[in-house]
Amino acid sequence: MLMMMLGAVQLGAAAACVVVLVPMGMAGWHLSRNKMLFFSGALFISLAICVHLTPYFPSVPDFVTSVSSAVVFDHRSSCINLVNEISWEVKPNASFHHFNNTQNSSSIADFYDKRWDWSDSYKLKACEFTKLSKSDASDLLNGSWVVIAGDSQARLFTLSLLNLILGPQSQRMDSVRADLFKRHSDYSVLVNETGMKLDFIWAPYVMNLTNLVMNFKTQKNCPDVMIMGAGLWHMLHFTNASDYDLHLHILKTQVVSLLPFSTELAMNEPVTGSVPIKSSHLFWLGMPVMINGMLNTEEKRAKMNDAMWHAYDKALGDSKLLRQTGGPLFLLDFQSLTWNCGPHCTSDGMHYDGAIYEAAVQIMLNTLLIESHQTL
Ligand SMILES: *[C@@H]1O[C@H](CO)[C@@H](O)[C@H](O)[C@H]1NC(C)=O
Ligand SMILES: *[C@@H]1O[C@H](CO)[C@@H](O)[C@H](O)[C@H]1NC(C)=O
Ligand SMILES: *[C@@H]1O[C@H](CO)[C@@H](O)[C@H](O)[C@H]1NC(C)=O
Ligand SMILES: *[C@@H]1O[C@H](CO)[C@@H](O)[C@H](O)[C@H]1NC(C)=O
Ligand SMILES: *[C@@H]1O[C@H](CO)[C@@H](O)[C@H](O)[C@H]1NC(C)=O
Ligand SMILES: *[C@@H]1O[C@H](CO)[C@@H](O)[C@H](O)[C@H]1NC(C)=O
Ligand SMILES: *[C@@H]1O[C@H](CO)[C@@H](O)[C@H](O)[C@H]1NC(C)=O
Repeated sequence: MLMMMLGAVQLGAAAACVVVLVPMGMAGWHLSRNKMLFFSGALFISLAICVHLTPYFPSVPDFVTSVSSAVVFDHRSSCINLVNEISWEVKPNASFHHFNNTQNSSSIADFYDKRWDWSDSYKLKACEFTKLSKSDASDLLNGSWVVIAGDSQARLFTLSLLNLILGPQSQRMDSVRADLFKRHSDYSVLVNETGMKLDFIWAPYVMNLTNLVMNFKTQKNCPDVMIMGAGLWHMLHFTNASDYDLHLHILKTQVVSLLPFSTELAMNEPVTGSVPIKSSHLFWLGMPVMINGMLNTEEKRAKMNDAMWHAYDKALGDSKLLRQTGGPLFLLDFQSLTWNCGPHCTSDGMHYDGAIYEAAVQIMLNTLLIESHQTL
């Protein structure tokens, strides 16, 4: 029995080597290059295999299962559950004492410096989470198609990702800022140096996200990385958590049917490290904490109250859309990010400081690193 298990593991490991080494060799890459490149190669290959081969080889999921079971021993696989654990240091800056109440009080948040890092625990240290630099992030996303869809939170996330990839001081970033914030519009950019294509799609309601996913399905063309989220618009304009719940269920059904490995997902159990990675990398932008007294209209303060926030949050949990509840999307936990950063990190109780979105981008990139490593 033990021999058989060992045999299976060896076979799996051998298969893993074949998967890793053959395409790396073909592409002219060398394992001696830095770790990041290795990961990016692995990511690229896993995406290529999943996206291009799966429809033609129905047996690929079995194969991938055997491969992934060989790498469960990678300690980083459990790290995926810890990647959202960020701690903050929020302090008044040196000019803070010049601030006084005659000034626009919503700008007080600007007078606080925000620093963040992964929490300082033994378990997290072992995970070696790291803030990716511009070139690391570019390597990782080289040649990828990234789609970000949702409301203003998604827009701010997009800004933060491009800020990292293009560099905050770059001329191109100025035009990105101008174009991206045209009200209620889509935005598309090709980062020609790395061949990364990024689409921002304005999708304020879950139904818009569902339509988008259905379009990918009919076009048989799916982004490598997709980040989406919606909820605040629905809360303000419909204020009906059971309707939100209904639409999340429909979205979940569509997303699952888009994934080649969807049948592998255990619907009622939390996903553990041993479950094969799905083809595309899918993320959900969670709802930020809302600070009711700071919301800028009476309507918002009335409708977007704590009780409604919790009802919407419960709907999200009940829909089992998230990986954390057995679904297909990995949560970027804006609730914990914004809660831990606190009231000095927002000027309107709803949209947060750039540091929040910067942290969310790094959480996503670190998740991609772990996932791409784990797949092969
Ligand atoms: C408050 O701020 C205003 C505008 O910046 C400034 O003119 C004024 O002197 C400040 N008052 C105090 C008491 O610091
Ligand atoms: C306060 O500043 C915000 C942006 O910083 C601006 O949108 C708002 O109109 C200002 N309010 C007042 C009363 O000046
Ligand atoms: C503190 O923050 C304010 C508002 O963002 C800024 O104008 C000022 O230059 C900052 N001061 C220091 C010393 O960083
Ligand atoms: C992206 O990949 C291409 C080849 O696939 C390579 O020529 C280029 O140097 C890469 N760029 C970065 C930033 O890694
Ligand atoms: C990328 O495009 C910009 C303008 O669109 C151009 O200035 C730059 O030279 C291009 N870079 C590469 C590597 O093609
Ligand atoms: C989003 O969905 C709503 C409700 O179905 C619809 O009215 C709106 O036109 C859609 N917006 C976009 C940008 O697709
Ligand atoms: C809330 O949405 C549900 C499902 O769409 C609907 O049946 C119900 O009538 C709505 N409730 C209100 C108060 O509009």
